[in-house]
Amino acid sequence: MTTYKPTAIRAARITALIAASMAALASLAAPAMAAETAKAAATGSAEAGAAKSATCLACHGPNGNSVNPEWPVIAGQNARYMAEQITLIRDGKRPNLLMAPIVKGLSDQDILDIAAYFATQTPTGHEADPSFWQAGEKLYRGGDAARGIPACLACHGPVGRGNPAAGYPALRAQHAVYAVKQLSDYAGDLRYTKDEKGHVQAGPNSQMMLAIAARLTAEDRRNLASYIQGMR
Ligand code: HEC
Ligand code: HEC
Repeated sequence: MTTYKPTAIRAARITALIAASMAALASLAAPAMAAETAKAAATGSAEAGAAKSATCLACHGPNGNSVNPEWPVIAGQNARYMAEQITLIRDGKRPNLLMAPIVKGLSDQDILDIAAYFATQTPTGHEADPSFWQAGEKLYRGGDAARGIPACLACHGPVGRGNPAAGYPALRAQHAVYAVKQLSDYAGDLRYTKDEKGHVQAGPNSQMMLAIAARLTAEDRRNLASYIQGMR
């Protein structure tokens, strides 16, 4: 039996995960994407969601443009990603003491409707920090092959609009403070809770960011988040 050093296992696992996620990305054939879009479009009603979204505005701001930088902008985020995240928060798999009580009573249909509503809104957002965004842009657009960091734009898009069909989140106009926290939480395995066996309780999409964020330094996070905040 071969014994591996924990660091070697982690590095191999991360490399395999990134390879798998990039392969999954490449194989997103057009018919599959069309089917996913049709599925997502069939499920939530933005009109019904508008009426159910009043309780969200206290924190997420008018139309989902939050003022407090710790609370994410959800205006214009894709519906598939939002519905997944609200469900994870409701079910206690993504810890969120502030929001969990608010979404506790929502049905799956309520969540789809509310997500459809916020997806139709426009993010306003803030400027990028002039000291850091250029370094962030370089990493966002080009990645860093030497450190095994893929280009963020491969999944989050050239101007941070994400990939709605695949449920990859939009990042444009997101608060830098919030983005830094998410990248740190992924890296520290804190974004999601674990089951009794130690498995992260989240969707298959979460594995990609857990792997990628583990390779970023604190400076990378600051630079990337600054660039993200200024993207439109
Ligand atoms: C009391 C404040 C509060 C209220 C009310 C609230 N949220 Fe949140 N929400 C938060 C915070 C804080 C986070 C991010 C926590 C973290 O750092 O992970 C969040 C995260 C989210 C996310 C994940 C965003 C992302 O980019 O991953 C979504 C989607 C969301 N909220 C939707 C809603 C909806 C829909 C409602 C209303 C039904 C709502 N929230 C009500 C505070 C709130
Ligand atoms: C292989 C595809 C892929 C690549 C490459 C990628 N991401 Fe992600 N990213 C995702 C997915 C999928 C999610 C949602 C994961 C989940 O379910 O938690 C995500 C989530 C995020 C979030 C949290 C969003 C939110 O609203 O909470 C941030 C911030 C982020 N990524 C930044 C980056 C940065 C910066 C890079 C480049 C260093 C990057 N990502 C590269 C797929 C990717």
